[in-house]
Amino acid sequence: MNIRLDKTANTFLILFSVLAMLLTGVLVERIVMRNNLSSIYRCRIGLNGSRLSDEFYANVKKVSSVRTANTYATQYEFVINNLGTNDLENWNIFLAMPRGSSVTDVWNVELARDDREDLVITPVNYNMTISAGGSVSFGFTIHTRRAYMPSALMLRGFKTVPPGATTASRLIIVFLIIWGAVFVGFMVARLNSRSYREKQKTDIKIILQSMNTFISFIDAKDPYTRGHSRRVAMYAAEIAKRMHLPENEIQNVYYAGLLHDAGKISIPDTVLNKPGKLTDEEMAAIRNHTVAGGNMLKQLSIPGVRETALYHHERYDGLGYPEGLRGDEIPLYARIVGVADSYDAMSSNRVYRRHLNKDEIIEEIQKGSGNQFDPTIVVYMVDMINDGYVNVVKMETADSEDGSDRLHLREEDIPGLYMGF
Ligand SMILES: [Fe+2]
Repeated sequence: MNIRLDKTANTFLILFSVLAMLLTGVLVERIVMRNNLSSIYRCRIGLNGSRLSDEFYANVKKVSSVRTANTYATQYEFVINNLGTNDLENWNIFLAMPRGSSVTDVWNVELARDDREDLVITPVNYNMTISAGGSVSFGFTIHTRRAYMPSALMLRGFKTVPPGATTASRLIIVFLIIWGAVFVGFMVARLNSRSYREKQKTDIKIILQSMNTFISFIDAKDPYTRGHSRRVAMYAAEIAKRMHLPENEIQNVYYAGLLHDAGKISIPDTVLNKPGKLTDEEMAAIRNHTVAGGNMLKQLSIPGVRETALYHHERYDGLGYPEGLRGDEIPLYARIVGVADSYDAMSSNRVYRRHLNKDEIIEEIQKGSGNQFDPTIVVYMVDMINDGYVNVVKMETADSEDGSDRLHLREEDIPGLYMGF
């Protein structure tokens, strides 16, 4: 699968996960805080023995009664019983009162008057719940001018509904269970894919380390081309990137660039480092590094690497070696590496000459466009020379003064190199 898609999917899943968590929060809040409260519940409760509600009834007891010439002072104790199966919360009671009456000796409740002068009875101490099967009691003394006996009161509150008791809350719980399962599955999949990516990363590091070790053998044989393979690999990967090849192909082009001269190991040192003109035999030995490289890399299953070693000296016009392939017959990676290879040769010192300057190189490469090089690839290479990309590569791969190799940027920092994760 394309890794970019993988990243998009990952981002999407993380966003989805966050959204789902928020949604869960809202739903839980609804279940816990709201969904378990009914809409407002009212019932009228008779105080003369009749039960006006199936669930609530009240006992009222006259505790004492004092009569003077003009007033009656009667102390009452009320008990409200909840016979239902739901608790009642946030309740209060309205009691109609005769005109000119007053109240004293209040216990367990607070009293207020509403706009009709009715008594509003509210529990104190936040003791707001009348539990199912339970009761609350309170009392006060009512002072009136005439004989008076309360006959009914109005109870108002919110009945709690046990979680899961309504269809909506059942649906919410089912949804939460499903989402929980999906979330756990997602996390497990994420952990798995993370450990898979870690393994892939380690594998790629080992591949690169092995290749670099092998390249150091070639470098040791031919110090004049020290760092050549790495530079070519980086130029080639950048060309592939600018050509918008898929990321795994950019990676493979990088490998192909690293190993394109693997066959050089078969060239005798005397020939490789000989200054001056080569005999035909020596020239044939040098040219043979393509075939030798192709043979050496036969067992490597990374796509395009063997073909690149074999064909990177083919020319677009068919006049190259070893097989004289032309145009698109030459594998794409070999065409890319061919241009990168020539650029690096021109921009480095060799036994027999100093490097060319920037303008000379551009001129040489453009001269080769369509005959030595694939013209579409030349365009990218010239761009990379003009925009200075090649200098970044040279700086990053330069040797230090004590001769040690300075390619110390991490492989994943190599510009244009896709590491496959
Ligand atoms: Fe070569």
